[in-house]
Amino acid sequence: MKVLITGGTGLIGEYLGKKLQIKGYEVAILSRKKNTDTAFQAYRWDAYGNSMENEAIETSDYIVHLAGANLADKRWTDERKKEIIDSRVKTAGLLFETAKKTGKKLKAFISASGSSYYGMVTSDKIFNEDDPPGNDFMGETCIKWEHSANRFRQLGARVVVLRQGAVFSTRGGALPKMNLPVRLGVAAPVGSGKQYMPWIHIDDICRIYIRAIEDDQMEGPYNAASPEHATNKDIMKTLARVQDKPFWAPNAPSAAMKLAFGEMAQVLLKGSRISAEKLISAGYEFRFPELEGALANLMKKSGD
Ligand SMILES: NC(=O)c1ccc[n+]([C@@H]2O[C@H](COP(=O)([O-])OP(=O)(O)OC[C@H]3O[C@@H](n4cnc5c(N)ncnc54)[C@H](OP(=O)(O)O)[C@@H]3O)[C@@H](O)[C@H]2O)c1
Repeated sequence: MKVLITGGTGLIGEYLGKKLQIKGYEVAILSRKKNTDTAFQAYRWDAYGNSMENEAIETSDYIVHLAGANLADKRWTDERKKEIIDSRVKTAGLLFETAKKTGKKLKAFISASGSSYYGMVTSDKIFNEDDPPGNDFMGETCIKWEHSANRFRQLGARVVVLRQGAVFSTRGGALPKMNLPVRLGVAAPVGSGKQYMPWIHIDDICRIYIRAIEDDQMEGPYNAASPEHATNKDIMKTLARVQDKPFWAPNAPSAAMKLAFGEMAQVLLKGSRISAEKLISAGYEFRFPELEGALANLMKKSGD
């Protein structure tokens, strides 16, 4: 069986591809780059120029759609916001048109989405998959992203969408940035520190993608975040504790975060809990359900 991973040079794609290879899958990636330093068969595409190597789809059984401009790389100007949406939606559109044109019957199309589907709000609500999307930029982005994935049902493919929390890995994403003040001995919460941050260990998110590939019963949206809920303060404190570092500095003020990051600061300053019940009911068992165990594993032992 062959899995095509879009954005396969990224944090999740690299780890997932290796795990799939170990399980005996053939893995290919779609990348914008001419020369990719990758262990996988690499095809090129340019969704803005509407071009891709058709063979990438013709020879694949599953597509995992991870491509997308990084949310935290640049300030959210109008131009960047357009890129954040287009890099997820136009790319899925090109995959859809190519699969349609070539008559390819995929077994499943599995797409990333975000826990920010429910909006960047801090509340006591625990969101589940039936709750409506948030009325803000990230809500709008996730709706368009998921809609572009759902179109694959028209081609007879099973569609799974994973509304991921922050993926914790030492190789990239939010964790190394959050850990910088901890390493410097000035660990502190961001803003009030009371905002929740749905999170998931890199190993769990990749095991969930594999489950979505293999389990024909999985269909539609799933929240993909660990069942133990944590606030920003919980995470910063636990990060400090597992590394025997102090936790004492004053909170990083919200106003300074907004000045430094603009609208993107919402991602750091706001957040609610999301429920992992649907995934657990589908039979998924988390390897790292608790924050302390997940962070201890990442910070002390592995280079994941
Ligand atoms: N990591 C997290 O904490 C997290 C949480 C929730 C949701 N997600 C979502 O899950 C997906 C994968 O996450 P990740 O952390 O692996 O992302 P990542 O490390 O930023 O990698 C994403 C990949 O997408 C491709 N890409 C970047 N900009 C692009 C653009 N403008 N147009 C087309 N392709 C572009 C790149 O591949 P090439 O350069 O090879 O083309 C890149 O390697 C993303 O869509 C992300 O938003 C991630």
